Amino acid sequence: MDRIEKLNFLSIAQVRDIAEKYQTPVFVYFQKVLEDKALAFPNEYGLTVRYAMKANSNVNILRIFDKKGIHIDASSEYEVERAALAGINPENILLTSQQFPVNLPYMINKGVQFNACSLDQLERFGEMFPDNLVSVRINPGLGSGGTNKTNTGGPGSSFGIWHEQFGEVLKIADEHGLKIWRVHTHIGSGSDPEVWKKVAGMSLGIVERFIKAGHDVQILNLGGGYKVARMNYEESTGLQECGEPVRQAFIDFEKRVGRQLKLEIEPGTFLTANAGSLIARVIDVKTTPDYNFIVIDSGMVDITRPSLYGAEHPIVVVPEIDQERRLGEYVVVGNCCESGDLLTPKPGDSETLDTRILCEAQIGDFVVIGGAGSYCSSMNVEGYNSYPGAAEILLDNEGKSHLIKKRQSLEQLMQNEKVVIKNN
Ligand code: LLP
Repeated sequence: MDRIEKLNFLSIAQVRDIAEKYQTPVFVYFQKVLEDKALAFPNEYGLTVRYAMKANSNVNILRIFDKKGIHIDASSEYEVERAALAGINPENILLTSQQFPVNLPYMINKGVQFNACSLDQLERFGEMFPDNLVSVRINPGLGSGGTNKTNTGGPGSSFGIWHEQFGEVLKIADEHGLKIWRVHTHIGSGSDPEVWKKVAGMSLGIVERFIKAGHDVQILNLGGGYKVARMNYEESTGLQECGEPVRQAFIDFEKRVGRQLKLEIEPGTFLTANAGSLIARVIDVKTTPDYNFIVIDSGMVDITRPSLYGAEHPIVVVPEIDQERRLGEYVVVGNCCESGDLLTPKPGDSETLDTRILCEAQIGDFVVIGGAGSYCSSMNVEGYNSYPGAAEILLDNEGKSHLIKKRQSLEQLMQNEKVVIKNN
């Protein structure tokens, strides 16, 4: 197993240039990688791909996918609004949220589609929009995630309506004249493809029950969650291998039930993870009897996944100037006053230190953290220790860099504070 990571889409010269021009920490996204991810997922009767915009909601990224004909999976009414502000047609947005939106009538009138994620949401939707089409998110009873924190199916998950509450769904739909036209399941992020395929079959079973109960289900949305290899020894889910048996299952479904179901999928990670890197700077190098530490000018503030999930991201040290360097064994930590600000946890165990073999680091060098295109900038904890959120740039297809998000300022961090205590 090759434990030494290489730069993904950036060259050493680009790392140095970008750091000099925009300072660090800075996220870099590569337009070409984003565009090349346009999805060819096996399907028989039509496919809609929805980008799970929670992965990275920068307006430019939303527009890149919109131009590719990709629709939107929004997980809050704020995301709906953000997508609409980016110019996305509201009819291309599906809202699947733990929180019932305050402005639902406004959104529905604009054409946004609503996915009821609980019996209460279904009831409230029915009261507001009787005799309408509706979509339901079902917890199929089985889930799978890269970690327990990213598993969204099974009895330990609050997402969707538990599959055994089928009768209650029918009752609420009946009371309000609702017609269920989409069934949605999403079982987790980084899920095992075998479980995903199994749940696809279980979801078809749920659709069949709805059709038999008189509902005109047209679409089965199987969510996202495809595993993406960030580290060089990991394996990504092959969409063809994963999707082909599901395509076959849709054909069998047609033969059995007489319905040509349209497929929807909602990838977030798959579309963006490896299209982004974070460039940070080495601000200190320290040793204890047990470890060598590299301290960088970023960390959990910008990339929270290692602290939260024990997630691994590739890390490459780029010397400030060309120099012969040996390799060293390091723990990489962030700049927060918090032992949990750890970028090299033991995989899946955010509390335990692990080490990486890296190019020997000196203060002033750069550290490039890969796999940072999804759930990094959008999931940051900016403001902790009063560190501002990082800048973001887009490398266009000619390799030219564009600032797409300015570095946050201290004023912005404090702008909503109101002074009630007088100074001496
Ligand atoms: N659809 C729904 C309803 C979802 O809740 C999610 C992710 C997705 C699609 C997209 O899943 P993806 O293809 O990105 O795995 N923050 C975590 C992952 C949890 C995301 C929650 N929902 C991470 O950093 O990996």
